[in-house]
Amino acid sequence: MYYSDELVEEIREKNDIVDVVAGYVKLQKKGSNYWGLCPFHGEKTPSFSVSGAKQMYYCFGCGAGGNVYTFLMNYENYTFPEAVKALAERAGVALPQAQEGEESRRRENRRARLLEVNKAAAGFFYYQLRDKRGETGMAYLRRRQLTDETMHRFGLGYAGKNGVDLIQYLRGKGFEDELIKEAGLASYSERHGLSSQFWNRVMFPIQDSNNRVIGFGGRVMGEGEPKYLNSPETPVFDKRRNLYGLNFARKSKAGSIILCEGYMDVIALHQVGFTQAVASLGTAFTPQQAGLLRRCTDSVLLAYDSDGAGVKAALRAIEILREARLTGKVIDMRPYKDPDEFIKALGKEAFEERIHRAENSFFFEIRILEGQYALDDPEEKTKFYREIAKKLCGFSEDVERDNYLQAVADKYLIGVDNLRKLVNGYAAQTGLEKPLERPRSGIHAKNRPEEGAKRSQRLLLSWLADEPGLYGRIRKYIGPEDFTEELYRTVAERLFGELDQGAFQPAGIISMFEEESTQREVAELFHTTLPRMETGQEREKAFRDILLAVKKNSYEYHMERLGTDVNALRQAVEGKKALEELAKTHISLE
Ligand code: GTP
Ligand code: MN
Repeated sequence: MYYSDELVEEIREKNDIVDVVAGYVKLQKKGSNYWGLCPFHGEKTPSFSVSGAKQMYYCFGCGAGGNVYTFLMNYENYTFPEAVKALAERAGVALPQAQEGEESRRRENRRARLLEVNKAAAGFFYYQLRDKRGETGMAYLRRRQLTDETMHRFGLGYAGKNGVDLIQYLRGKGFEDELIKEAGLASYSERHGLSSQFWNRVMFPIQDSNNRVIGFGGRVMGEGEPKYLNSPETPVFDKRRNLYGLNFARKSKAGSIILCEGYMDVIALHQVGFTQAVASLGTAFTPQQAGLLRRCTDSVLLAYDSDGAGVKAALRAIEILREARLTGKVIDMRPYKDPDEFIKALGKEAFEERIHRAENSFFFEIRILEGQYALDDPEEKTKFYREIAKKLCGFSEDVERDNYLQAVADKYLIGVDNLRKLVNGYAAQTGLEKPLERPRSGIHAKNRPEEGAKRSQRLLLSWLADEPGLYGRIRKYIGPEDFTEELYRTVAERLFGELDQGAFQPAGIISMFEEESTQREVAELFHTTLPRMETGQEREKAFRDILLAVKKNSYEYHMERLGTDVNALRQAVEGKKALEELAKTHISLE
């Protein structure tokens, strides 16, 4: 699907970002911006800002940022065309039908048909289970202590021993063989024609968060391989982007989400009232799924199997949760294998108790790590401490890292100062994070020259975006080629071009970039905080310093490339002239 740049811009301009975001996030005006709690990471004090002037948002906590399209794509998980469509509708802009494209219409149609055939199949399985022919299935589910109400709620069903009943039923409803096959409900062979994929299994329809059946899991009743047979991925069944039980869990008022491994775990938990339970779909937990969870909670409790594989999967899930800035805790299931068995053995209250005692994910990691070292051997012990230090370096926020450092030192009886030394040493060695004592951002971070140069370029662009009126006064000293960072140069080219024509749209610049990470970087660029200035004189000095720094860096950059770049000589000569002139000129900001 292709929409023209003009149309995309028009729709963007007609949707004020403050209004759109306010539909999702409670915003409060402070100064020239609006502030709220960031919907993309868990936080208690607002660091998420929305600028009406720039038509952009930016989170100073997690770095999420962009324009109104980026916001919807991230918040609603929309594709770009979906975001365009939603905003066009919101603003009452008609999208030309011709632009929607034959191909994409066909694809949308196909998706709708796949959902329909899945729904019909789910209905078929559902009635089979409750029919005489479904007795074995019913007996199996009863043996697993599911109530009729639970089976109904999850739409459980049964696929009989006859492989053609389903096919005939679906054909009778007008679904073509091709579609039935594409949905993963049947396979085709020369000898048998179309035959049902699911056979003699109890069926778990998998619903997306809007209650649409997107696929199935079928379990053998008793022993057998494979234990669970899942639908293949189809245009409507993306295993990485959906979670079993999320359609119910998102409405739960529990405030947290319980993440399990199996469908049966989810069902057993819901049956006793833990409707906040979800599970991944027979594959490992993914960052996309973490993104889904972040929309309904900032705290995830892991209820993975207690065996070795479960612990390993939990460790990986913890990392993903951390990257998504979700708080992770681990529920101890021992001595039982999984939540289903735990609930059956000890009941609801005991599980509630385990939830309250859930272990902080960092301590869980350290405890698992501890098991790998013989701590009565000094050398092993040192290695263990080093690993702890290494893990502590993973916290990018100083306060958080220091809190954990103290807690872990307490717990494992390590001297706090010794541990801090280890952490700082490790940080310095690898350069992953800055040593503890140093403030995280701001002027002091200018330890490497290229960082300083980057920062001045960012500050200048940010300042010009805030006060476009200044552009005319510096136009003759500065051009896009003075921005030595490639991304900044691209932005400067567009920004200066627009300023030359008097029409300036920073939020439109974001739409130039397809990659989400680039969009973030551009949003960040326009939100670089300017040094605090009290007087007009200070402001003028700061602006001049930044301008000179950008110019000087540009001059040095082009001087270095004299031999290799044909334009470098001209740039360097002109740059030198401009620098000298600038040094003598007063630039008034009034
Ligand atoms: P029960 O044995 O019925 O209690 O199921 P469980 O949920 O405890 O199963 P288990 O812990 O073995 O597996 C967890 C999840 O992994 C299941 O819910 C399935 O999604 C998936 N899974 C299990 N076995 C298979 C298999 O043989 N093939 C595939 N594709 N997925 C499986
Ligand atoms: Mn189980």
